[in-house]
Amino acid sequence: MDEIERLRQEIREHDHKYYVEAQPTISDQEYDQLLDKLKQLEAENPELITPDSPTQRVGGAPLDEFTTVTHARPMLSIDNTYDAGSLFKWARRCCEALDHPDDETYAIEGGYLVEPKIDGVAINIRYENGVLVLASTRGDGTQGDDVTQNVKTIRSVPLRLTAADAPPIPAVLEVRAEIFMPNAEFARINQAFADEGKQTFANPRNATAGTLKQLDSKAVAQRRLDFIAHGQGEVSTNEFPTQTSFSAALREWGIPTNPIATTCATIQEVWEKIEEFATSKNELPYGVDGVVVKVDRYDLRERLGTTSRFPRWCIAYKYPAEQAVTKLLNVDWQVGKTGKLTPRATMEPVFVAGTTVQHATLHNLGEILRKDIRVGDTVVIEKAGEIIPQVVRVDLDQRPPDLPPIAPPQRCPECEGEVESEQDDTGKETARHCMNPECPAQLRERLIHFAARGQMDIDGLGEKIVIQLADAGLVNSFGDVFELHSKRDQILELERMGEKKVDNLLAGIEAAKARGLDRVLAGLGVRHVGSTVSKILAKHYGSIDALQATTEEDIRTFQVNGQESGIGPEIAASLHHFLQSEAGQTVIDELRTAGVTLSVPQSDEDSTEQIFAGKTFVVTGKLEKYSRDEIHALVEKLGGKASGSVSKKTDYLVAGEKAGSKLAKAEQFGVEVLSEDDFQQLIGSAG
Ligand code: IVH
Repeated sequence: MDEIERLRQEIREHDHKYYVEAQPTISDQEYDQLLDKLKQLEAENPELITPDSPTQRVGGAPLDEFTTVTHARPMLSIDNTYDAGSLFKWARRCCEALDHPDDETYAIEGGYLVEPKIDGVAINIRYENGVLVLASTRGDGTQGDDVTQNVKTIRSVPLRLTAADAPPIPAVLEVRAEIFMPNAEFARINQAFADEGKQTFANPRNATAGTLKQLDSKAVAQRRLDFIAHGQGEVSTNEFPTQTSFSAALREWGIPTNPIATTCATIQEVWEKIEEFATSKNELPYGVDGVVVKVDRYDLRERLGTTSRFPRWCIAYKYPAEQAVTKLLNVDWQVGKTGKLTPRATMEPVFVAGTTVQHATLHNLGEILRKDIRVGDTVVIEKAGEIIPQVVRVDLDQRPPDLPPIAPPQRCPECEGEVESEQDDTGKETARHCMNPECPAQLRERLIHFAARGQMDIDGLGEKIVIQLADAGLVNSFGDVFELHSKRDQILELERMGEKKVDNLLAGIEAAKARGLDRVLAGLGVRHVGSTVSKILAKHYGSIDALQATTEEDIRTFQVNGQESGIGPEIAASLHHFLQSEAGQTVIDELRTAGVTLSVPQSDEDSTEQIFAGKTFVVTGKLEKYSRDEIHALVEKLGGKASGSVSKKTDYLVAGEKAGSKLAKAEQFGVEVLSEDDFQQLIGSAG
């Protein structure tokens, strides 16, 4: 129907005005009306829905896994510099290699292109005859994940390019771009996560990477990712002399490029741009961690070539962590899960690297003493990336006379319990600990840790919910968590608790019971016993009973494959002490009674011989004995990797009947081809 195609075209034009030109001519509401109308017409005529219709951005069926794809051109990384000196040296090397005049301006023919280095995730988007056919992550540079379904939900990514009069769209056009999460969206999502008790993302980059890795593209569609192109991969007819001219064409076709990219003739000019951008970058709606400087002309890029890891024609300048000066107003002490008291600084609010900062961590008492930090001091704070700001140093010249040193706490600020001091080898005080095992603050922190990702990973039991449950007296120990199902009515009485939320929480708790010994051990929060140590212990001892029955010496000295396990005397002492203590015994008994698995599950991959470690398998054709998923699962269980496409790196192709192009490719690359019987023989009794 003509009306459908006309509407699609109209919507695409508005997308272009909004995302490429940043000059919308209709309101968001009017836009939504157009989209609704199109959706309605398509619902009435489902046979007319095309994959490039603007309605197809809502996400499709969830995937089981991402397929691995081989990039047509490798996706390299960029070399970094942190100072003007090395930037100038890079320009000199370029000029020398290109036989440009040695006149210290390092002017380059065609100029340098200077672009913000957006802190996101690299993507390759492939268009064939103007239609988006593939979007893949960088991966190891040679192969990445096929994340097409997810990328299609991003509204600024055109599903079909606009066929402008000139220049013509190349039959194959690969665009290299950055996918990122705008700061405002990052704040929105983290707030929502925090409200739901889920762990928040550390920074927008992690949030972007986490979103792109979602197997359910409908979830991706809920988050507003954005993208900006900054380069090319395979292009069937590249008639563009420079990236600047290529970018102009991309915009014509509907692909956004960075409007603040500029060219400079000399490296001095480049440096001035970098300095100028150091402050203005914080006003952008997305995170930028530096500037990318490139030789603009493609022919010169070709002559400069690449090293094994980086192109020689391009360099990234990274800004140093930003600092600001402010006044220290107060220090309070927070109780950690092991009772350690951590000082936190409250300062006069100060604007640094795009946000207003009021708190900084001071790590421990030792740091306060070493840096001689006092309340009332003028302090220099630093923010590297998006992580919590640090106090770098005190400006002693600004210190008012008679400012007293910070008094370390004599009692626990939460429970008034006794405090013990910890010293280093030279007798200097490094930290203080609350010694009350019943301290409610410690309990709360221990529970938060126990339930978190990496430990018991209990869905629905985030920080806020733990605090709510602990404050209400519904959980006082790890064991109590697994008794919550009997307190359903009491939970429902708490604020912001609905039936569905409680059901999800209880289901999450039930599911966590089977995580296995290593996760339980890591979750207990025994000093020095983190997740790596817990994995080693679980694998060696197999059950909590075996661990409790063993000696401290055995924990300290057992070997793994004829080598030291890496578990030293401090860890051994701490763990052994816990296991033999009354408190430790109680915790273990409670967990056992609750039905929590305290051994290594039989099916655990660690207990199976990893005969396929380092090997990559691809499955193709019609199979009789196994399903494709079964083979993938077996390969992974035995330590191997299952991939969707054949490349030089593939070790085995399991081929059934009617194996097509993958078989041909395997033969071309000399990949070993297995029948189902061969595969069965290879796995032997392990399968
Ligand atoms: S050009 C050979 N331009 O930074 C790679 N990259 O650290 C040429 N990035 O993987 C890439 N903004 O994902 C280029 N304006 C920009 C960029 C940019 C961000 C990313 C890119 C690359 C990473 C390298």
